[in-house]
Amino acid sequence: MRRLSGCLALLLALAAVPASAAQVLRPFDDPRDPPTWRPLTDAEQALHELGLTVFNTSWRPAGAARAERIDGLGPVFNAASCDACHNNGARARTAVEPGLIPVSMVVQLSGPDGKAADPSYGHVLNTAAIDGFQPEAQIRLSHVERPGRYPDGRPWSLRVPTYRFDELRLGPLRSDTVIKPRLAPALFGSGLLDAVPAAADDGAAGRFGWQGNVSSLAAQTGQAFAQDMGLTSADLAQDDCGAADALCRAAESGGEPEVSNELLAAVMAYQRLLAVPASPPLERPLEKAGLALFERHGCASCHRSNLPVSGIEGLSSIAPYTDLRRHDLGPGLADRSVSGEIQRSRWRTAPLWGLGYAVRRPPYALLHDGRARSIEEAVLWHDGEAASARRRFERSSAKERQSLLDWLSAR
Ligand code: HEC
Ligand code: HEC
Repeated sequence: MRRLSGCLALLLALAAVPASAAQVLRPFDDPRDPPTWRPLTDAEQALHELGLTVFNTSWRPAGAARAERIDGLGPVFNAASCDACHNNGARARTAVEPGLIPVSMVVQLSGPDGKAADPSYGHVLNTAAIDGFQPEAQIRLSHVERPGRYPDGRPWSLRVPTYRFDELRLGPLRSDTVIKPRLAPALFGSGLLDAVPAAADDGAAGRFGWQGNVSSLAAQTGQAFAQDMGLTSADLAQDDCGAADALCRAAESGGEPEVSNELLAAVMAYQRLLAVPASPPLERPLEKAGLALFERHGCASCHRSNLPVSGIEGLSSIAPYTDLRRHDLGPGLADRSVSGEIQRSRWRTAPLWGLGYAVRRPPYALLHDGRARSIEEAVLWHDGEAASARRRFERSSAKERQSLLDWLSAR
């Protein structure tokens, strides 16, 4: 892949995107301190720094010494800080390999209706616990390789995951419980996705999470504290003890709520302003060729390069490469119940902005459960509503396929 370098190339590439949409892309010089998409006032700067601190804080068990403002973790949880899963705001920075699932992967549970929490284990199967308590389970992953070929004969192989649950503290999972493995997505640009007017998504429950089932950034943050970390906040006053888990429900509290409104507001403000990482621009002809294929194959009908935003001065649209709508991508990607029954699943079109940043900083894994080891594998998994787009990709020449993949890794 040939690249231009320096300011000139950046200017050329930015000229290719509508001015307003390009404004929110920023070079990420220091990954540990991701930039904001607009300058901050002094007051905002202070709040932003507090938010970054909250994001990186490892919360402590209730009553821990000298931890009054940051206690109440668990008793069961998955990770003690936001950062443990969302590496400096990025998607889970891990490969997804056979064995114990990575910390940044969460297995959610639901009833067969797709909604109700599990009576024993709650919304999330928590794989860690504070001293004196036991985790709810250990989760192991294995893969079966599914080989295939392009029409031109070139081989590929996809990994089909299966999960095994050991040390289930409150007894076996019900056979109709739906298993929902989810890898932590990037948070870059979340505040901008939150600013897309409701009519632009499918008007359903929400736009956050791999299934677009969480209504707002605030709701998602409350849920993360409660279900992934065992911390109550003004957004969600119940942590993730199952209704039947008396021990968990009786655990000492770190305060009412455990996360103060001040710290909650700071971490919200921090996320709202996180920019989206800009990729080094492709040369103009490569940019044009890749975009043409993306449009011709029909990728752009879901991965939309223009969405309106409202309520932000000087910004009328963004280019997140998503429609924020939910689509059925076929039985291969669908969730399954414990007994293996396929649960028809609709996924939010994954935003592709910032994709290149993940690819440039391996390890990384794609799709909701990290089964795809590359962009190519992610595309090959598209089925259902996206089947015709995938077939057009498969039937294009090897050179065209590479050209599209190069374009995708420069998003
Ligand atoms: C144990 C790992 C883990 C921890 C800890 C965690 N998250 Fe997440 N986060 C996830 C996973 C997994 C998802 C995807 C959930 C889904 O699809 O339902 C997610 C989704 C999100 C999203 C939605 C992004 C999008 O575009 O859909 C936001 C925002 C978010 N988390 C913020 C936070 C914040 C803030 C914290 C700390 C208070 C936090 N998370 C802690 C794993 C984690
Ligand atoms: C019908 C809508 C639709 C079409 C058409 C579509 N996609 Fe997707 N795409 C999705 C959804 C939904 C997901 C998330 C699926 C999941 O995680 O299980 C996704 C995920 C992806 C991902 C992985 C992103 C990530 O963060 O893990 C890539 C890459 C991608 N699509 C590229 C493409 C390309 C290239 C095309 C055209 C050949 C295309 N898509 C066509 C809906 C679509």
